[in-house]
Amino acid sequence: MFIIKGILKEDKELENNIFIKKIYAPRIAEIIKPGQFLNIRVSDTIYPLLRRPFSVCDVVDDCIYIMFNIYGEGTKMLAHKKIGDEIDILGPLGNGFNLSGDYDTAIIAAGGLGAAPFPYVIRKINEKKNIYSFIGGRTDKDVITYNMKNIFISTDDGSMGLKGTVIDLLIENIGILKKDKVKIFACGPIPMLSALKDFSIENNFDCEVSTECAMACGFGICQGCPIESTHQKESYLLVCKDGPVFNVKDVVL
Ligand SMILES: Cc1cc2nc3c(=O)[nH]c(=O)nc-3n(C[C@H](O)[C@H](O)[C@H](O)COP(=O)(O)OP(=O)(O)OC[C@H]3O[C@@H](n4cnc5c(N)ncnc54)[C@H](O)[C@@H]3O)c2cc1C
Ligand code: FES
Repeated sequence: MFIIKGILKEDKELENNIFIKKIYAPRIAEIIKPGQFLNIRVSDTIYPLLRRPFSVCDVVDDCIYIMFNIYGEGTKMLAHKKIGDEIDILGPLGNGFNLSGDYDTAIIAAGGLGAAPFPYVIRKINEKKNIYSFIGGRTDKDVITYNMKNIFISTDDGSMGLKGTVIDLLIENIGILKKDKVKIFACGPIPMLSALKDFSIENNFDCEVSTECAMACGFGICQGCPIESTHQKESYLLVCKDGPVFNVKDVVL
């Protein structure tokens, strides 16, 4: 884990107000794994005091990418950074996805901005494995397909793809999931991850999810990001240190 000053190299805004920032950060680019995250200081002043966490979206050579939308003050400040600006980054943090293992097909399941970690996941999955991406959003404006592979889409209001949730989309395409040995990699809102947990356990699919919660330190000191463990009653894991990626069987969702 390092604190470094990255340099903003490229700035892209997708159609639906999604920002992609390419940041020169060789020390982090060299070691960060898919599903790990960065805790970023969004301003040079003491406001806002806390860093903001972002998944690593991709890594190319010496640069890392992040993807976000404007949510509150912190993301607004980050969005307004200019090419050449320094960005104070703490990372890599947390545990990422386990991409190795005995599966033939990787199933990506992403809801809204849960798409953020998957360009790097897809880049790092062994090229011999099949990859299918199941992408959901509330409306067509929330569907993010940036650098995804073999895409299926659902929206809650039916404005794009199947009308329904990502779980409905997986059920609709269950033939793909039952063809080979699959592993599901997911990120999205907690209700989606909770439904996905039930779906994967019912169907005996191995499934890892990237979880989210409000964070402060980002590395296990403040105890501010608990998630309940399934292994012992009233025992908690920390999203920042033990996660953010967990096997669905290990946490209460
Ligand atoms: C491990 C991890 C990875 C993340 N990766 C991404 C990513 O790749 N792209 C992305 O766009 N966002 C990501 N997020 C969420 C992102 O960190 C928040 O959107 C960001 O911190 C919001 O900052 P802000 O200053 O704009 O909003 P704030 O003003 O801080 O937030 C506004 C309100 O939202 C609440 N809030 C803030 N963050 C969260 C949260 N994570 N969960 C629940 N409530 C929250 C605050 O308490 C506040 O009430 C991630 C979060 C975590 C924990
Ligand atoms: S954010 Fe401080 S312990 Fe997780």
